[in-house]
This record gives sequence, structure tokens and C-alpha cells, in this order.
Amino acid sequence: MAHVVTEPCFGCKYTDCVVACPVEAFREGENMVFIDPDACICCDACVLECPVEAIFPDDEVPEKWHDFIALNAEMSRQCPVITERKEPLVKSP
Ligand code: F3S
Repeated sequence: MAHVVTEPCFGCKYTDCVVACPVEAFREGENMVFIDPDACICCDACVLECPVEAIFPDDEVPEKWHDFIALNAEMSRQCPVITERKEPLVKSP
């Protein structure tokens, strides 16, 4: 079990989620963030922080975004850890 970042994050990257994570599970891609499934402890701390509701437990990811489960796992191996809030790519939800 892990949490998964999905489509609404793409092009937004608010990063409110990353500072809520107690285990540094977030990885920063160019256009969105990802959660490393090996680091995530499913504490739910990030879920309510996201203004565009992009984060779901893996067994609750909407069907249309199921590809993001594998994408988070794959991209987490390639992207650096992000633990601090950054300027979002857009200004408001
Ligand atoms: Fe993305 Fe939401 Fe975090 S837009 S960076 S999942 S707060």
C-alpha cells in the first residue's frame, strides 16, 4: 500500500503535500511530484493538503488515473527527493 499522485498535480505542483510528509516520500518531477511507494507509510497527511485533490491511496485511485500508480513507482526511482515547499507552476487552484 502507498499513496499515489495523479493527473491534477500535472502542471500545478503546489507542493503543500511535500512538507506534510513525515518520511520524505515525495520526489520532484519537472511538471508534477511523485510518491515513492517504498517510502510511503500511508499516513494520509498529504491527502488533505493538496488543493486540487491529486493524491489517493493506491486502492482508491480513480480508474482513469490507474496508470499513475506505476508512473509514481517508476519516476520515484529517477527523480530527486523534495521536502520543501516551492513556487507552484500555477497561481491558484
Ligand atoms: Fe501536486 Fe497537490 Fe502536491 S498539486 S505537488 S500533489 S499539493
